[in-house]
Amino acid sequence: MTKILVTGAAGFIGFHLSQSLLNRGDTVIGLDNLNDYYDVFLKEDRLTQLKNKSNFSFHKLDLADRQGIAQLFDQQKFDVVVNLAAQAGVRYSLQNPHAYVDSNLVGFVNILEGCRHSQVKHLVFGSSSSVYGANTKIPFSVGDNVDHPVSLYAASKKANELMAHTYSHLYGLPTTGLRFFTVYGSWGRPDMAYFKFTKAILAGQPIDVYNYGKMQRDFTYIDDIVEGIIRVIDKLPQANESDSTSTKAPYKIYNIGNNQPVELMHFIQVLEDCLGIKAEKNLLPMQPGDVPMTYADVDDLVKNVGFRPSTSIEVGLEKFIAWYTSYYKT
Ligand SMILES: NC(=O)c1ccc[n+]([C@@H]2O[C@H](COP(=O)([O-])OP(=O)(O)OC[C@H]3O[C@@H](n4cnc5c(N)ncnc54)[C@H](O)[C@@H]3O)[C@@H](O)[C@H]2O)c1
Repeated sequence: MTKILVTGAAGFIGFHLSQSLLNRGDTVIGLDNLNDYYDVFLKEDRLTQLKNKSNFSFHKLDLADRQGIAQLFDQQKFDVVVNLAAQAGVRYSLQNPHAYVDSNLVGFVNILEGCRHSQVKHLVFGSSSSVYGANTKIPFSVGDNVDHPVSLYAASKKANELMAHTYSHLYGLPTTGLRFFTVYGSWGRPDMAYFKFTKAILAGQPIDVYNYGKMQRDFTYIDDIVEGIIRVIDKLPQANESDSTSTKAPYKIYNIGNNQPVELMHFIQVLEDCLGIKAEKNLLPMQPGDVPMTYADVDDLVKNVGFRPSTSIEVGLEKFIAWYTSYYKT
């Protein structure tokens, strides 16, 4: 039985991951500060589901609370840590940059220090496709240069990868960073486009479509993300993995994406079909910090953990809508 700390357990990905880990019999300690970046009731409802399981316990704690995090690591002796607590969102990083520094930089150092001092066996952490910035070479590969982020959010994720590598190198802490590509699904995030679109369409309100709908995203269904994370948890990075992203440190980066970019306008069309309602669209230019395309090369994931995300948007969106309409009783 493995004892796993999941930070951001009340968040979208952390909640789904915790559920799967609990179902396979792991002991999960969830951590979250339940901040109000989006609807706190949704976070609490996710937690209520997790608290039904006897192998789950929860700590309401901020990653930036240095003493609190150090104490938790001292007391608990985790085998594995999955860090999914972060200030997410690209556009919000233009409005509130300090939130990204507090949670993603200060908070991440506290996690690294906790892992180092309590000899955690594997730290897995959430990075993002946004580290690829406005790269035009597709698909995006983990060996590509990612030195030109176009938002502070992306910069904070790239910083996490650098910080993790340092701890792997200096202290032999095994770390794996996962670059997630636009994740969607049940119990999703209300700040994300697909969620806002659904809400607006059902309310008969117009939707804001950026870059005139010509953006392409490698939309990845939540179940595929969770499957990828779990396989990676069980695969310790090796000190001598000879690819361009690793040195002699036990450190590894993977893309987890659907490997099949979809144009935003097509995504909206599938959403309209699922809902049986045509959307009224406000066609708008691209927003600062946004990128025109994301597209994951997942060869490493396939090679090392034998998994390729494959849920189509037709299947994934139908599941999302089924959850949305039942949760909000629309
Ligand atoms: N959802 C996506 O499309 C996507 C894409 C790429 C990367 N990611 C990354 O995956 C991770 C999880 O994302 P998500 O979609 O589940 O987001 P989320 O916002 O739903 O979950 C994050 C959770 O962390 C908590 N949190 C934030 N700051 C905290 C702090 N300082 N201390 C304690 N808890 C804190 C929040 O309350 C929230 O419940 C994040 O690192 C995010 O950047 C997500």
